[in-house]
Amino acid sequence: MRKLLIAANWKMYKTPTEAQSFLQAFLPLVKESRNEIAICPPAIDLPAVLHAVQGSHVKVGAQNMYFAEEGAFTGEISAAMLIDLGVSHVIIGHSERRQYFGETDELVNRKLVTALKHHLVPIVCVGEREDERESGLTEEVCCRQIGRAFHQIDPAKLHKVVIAYEPVWAIGTGKTATPAIAAESHLIIRSEVARLVGKAIADNMRILYGGSVKPENAEALLNQPEIDGALVGGASLDPKSFAAIVKAGVPA
Ligand code: PGA
Repeated sequence: MRKLLIAANWKMYKTPTEAQSFLQAFLPLVKESRNEIAICPPAIDLPAVLHAVQGSHVKVGAQNMYFAEEGAFTGEISAAMLIDLGVSHVIIGHSERRQYFGETDELVNRKLVTALKHHLVPIVCVGEREDERESGLTEEVCCRQIGRAFHQIDPAKLHKVVIAYEPVWAIGTGKTATPAIAAESHLIIRSEVARLVGKAIADNMRILYGGSVKPENAEALLNQPEIDGALVGGASLDPKSFAAIVKAGVPA
């Protein structure tokens, strides 16, 4: 069985002090949860969040990292820096990174290689834009993004990878994919992973849904057998709302 992962993507919200207050309120609410929980705050908040989650089962992820080991790359953060702090997860190729910061499929692939080398759990984001969905390109886009992300990576190394299916038209828009639409895309993604790297890896790979997940729709989404968790933006900024989403997922 695939363990549900409920991950918070805080994007560029919350100062370190605000992050601390969030965790003070949030941790008691999810103490009993058997789902895997990860908080992905802005990089500057990572030390405060890691400190606050000590002694709990909540994991901490970064929203981004660079593929190079080190070097003259002003403003970037390396995998070794994340590991040294105690970070376990990293989001790679979020659509906002692709859209606003020019991240290409090739860059996503290089970052994935480095994240795996450092034993981080990569959460690789894929998903179609609205115009692509309307032109019937959903399958083509998702399969292309996965194929290029996994390019030339030894399948044996991919077992840790988590995929987040995030239709761009559903991110921050309030428009959620219906559970049926999401499950259909998840099936397409899983069969593409099976075609690329084998059924055993595909069957074990967690595929999260992301895009306007909130307490009101979380249960219906997480009840879908094909949906192995959620990547939550807006609704993860409030402790009660994120805790309600964590609890909506019935552990495997
Ligand atoms: P949202 O963002 O929940 O605010 O739609 C999800 C994401 O971008 O990961």
